[in-house]
Amino acid sequence: MKKGKAVRTLGSKWIKTKVLQKSKSLRSYVPETKLFSHSSLLTMLQKHKMVYVKPTNGSAGHGVIRAELKKQDGSILYQYQSGMKKRTFHTFNQFFISMNQTKLKRTYLIQQGIHLLQKDKRPFDVRIMVQRTSGSPWKVTGVIGRLAHPKKIVTNYHSQGKPLSLGLLLSPYLQGSKKQTYKATLQKLGVRIAKHYQKTYPGFREIGVDIGIGPNLHPWVLEVNTSPDPFIFNQLKNKKMFRTVLKYAKANGRFR
Ligand SMILES: Nc1ncnc2c1ncn2[C@@H]1O[C@H](COP(=O)(O)OP(=O)(O)O)[C@@H](O)[C@H]1O
Ligand SMILES: [Mg+2]
Repeated sequence: MKKGKAVRTLGSKWIKTKVLQKSKSLRSYVPETKLFSHSSLLTMLQKHKMVYVKPTNGSAGHGVIRAELKKQDGSILYQYQSGMKKRTFHTFNQFFISMNQTKLKRTYLIQQGIHLLQKDKRPFDVRIMVQRTSGSPWKVTGVIGRLAHPKKIVTNYHSQGKPLSLGLLLSPYLQGSKKQTYKATLQKLGVRIAKHYQKTYPGFREIGVDIGIGPNLHPWVLEVNTSPDPFIFNQLKNKKMFRTVLKYAKANGRFR
């Protein structure tokens, strides 16, 4: 039997990252990722200065931690934030012990942190919904921006993030046809990712790609959801996208 046959969803962020990294052309969109350990955390912090530490099988932003290595007045500080709790330490070991107590009792991974574009000093990211049915090809059915709660480091709706039109969020950075072209690039990236996964997992019908946009506008794939929430699209005034997303989801047997 072919590997992964008929599997429709996949929880492990680690496996999903490994599959994405197999693609030469998609690799440049994937932040560096390691399994969590004392030594990998230190190495990743020294290299990237800011990392995200996430439960391998998490969702809704639960248990996600942002960790940073900072230099202040010639000394090194280690800092982390989880929820609204922020803590700073002078030694890596103290920092590590405290962070381990904050982590959920689950396996975690560490991902290169992306300094996301912001609005009103709040980071935002992008959710691209790509769906197909047994009778139709992959299609981008929804695109939405998600703005983090003012005091949080995650943008998830279920962690008090605010779903907003992507066009509005991108306006300070891109205008007119440049903005349209950029949005089209993100959509194409979504379809490329869906097609890539389908090679290993032919049963996939829906993916929700979380894309973080870095300061130079490079898109980074933060996460690929295989059971993406259609209802965030119901937060927009214009219900057109929501109707399409829901139509596909229902055709795929969700929400009967
Ligand atoms: N590498 C990263 N750099 C910057 N922000 C990140 C990174 N990883 C996650 N985030 C933020 O945390 C949120 C939740 O992380 P994600 O990997 O999507 O897990 P979940 O399954 O909980 O949604 C993202 O939507 C984004 O706002
Ligand atoms: Mg997510």
